Amino acid sequence: MRVFKFKEINSTNSFLKNLEHKEDYDIAIAETQNSGRGRRGNKWHSTKGGGYFSFILKENKDIQQEEYTKLPLVVGYSLLKTFENLEPELKFMFKWTNDIYIKDKKLSGILVEKKENNFIIGIGINFNNEIDNSIENIGISLKNISSKTYDINKIILEIVENFKQDLNFYFNGNFDIILKKLNNQNYLYNKRIDIDLGFGKIIEGRAKEIDKTGQLKVEVDSKLKLFNVGEIHICKK
Ligand code: BTN
Repeated sequence: MRVFKFKEINSTNSFLKNLEHKEDYDIAIAETQNSGRGRRGNKWHSTKGGGYFSFILKENKDIQQEEYTKLPLVVGYSLLKTFENLEPELKFMFKWTNDIYIKDKKLSGILVEKKENNFIIGIGINFNNEIDNSIENIGISLKNISSKTYDINKIILEIVENFKQDLNFYFNGNFDIILKKLNNQNYLYNKRIDIDLGFGKIIEGRAKEIDKTGQLKVEVDSKLKLFNVGEIHICKK
């Protein structure tokens, strides 16, 4: 495990992806990113004061590949626990499958990518940064709420340590406990959502629990259906 620190970089995910010899839990941390990436080709605003980091998780051949589809949920679980430890009075919510919300706005996003047998887990957290005007209706930073200044590097290392433990916990058959917490803090629960199935087809439904498969249950026309994030795009109404 090595820690690579940058004042500015294009993207910590891209850096680790292109790193020639990757070690398990190598971490890249940047003060700013000039090409921070979110999911579905979105840009991740990465101005000074935010937490931008990625780390490597080497695929374990003894673990079924399918188990790894729930990685974002395990990361979300670790983030919730770390944030709650930091600010026990605040109500953090998990927005299936990759986001942490607070006060109906996005605090943190997770981007999991894969190159060969390495997962690159990238996390962006609005800690001490000002939220850009263009996203102030959807984004929030911790400092906005608590008026504190956070020790970003310290918290990042805590998140990675928590994740290591939570991943073992998950691989040891405890997904039900992880899922229980995520469902207790399921931001989408009972919200009306549009599901974009691609090819211009959008259906409407009401989000329910996250299922033990990691998929989201959605009530569509009075029937419960399971949706996989790879197939759908959810936008809150
Ligand atoms: C999302 O919400 O769509 C995911 C956002 C992930 C952003 C982080 S910031 C650190 C790492 N480097 C990137 O370019 N993206 C991730």
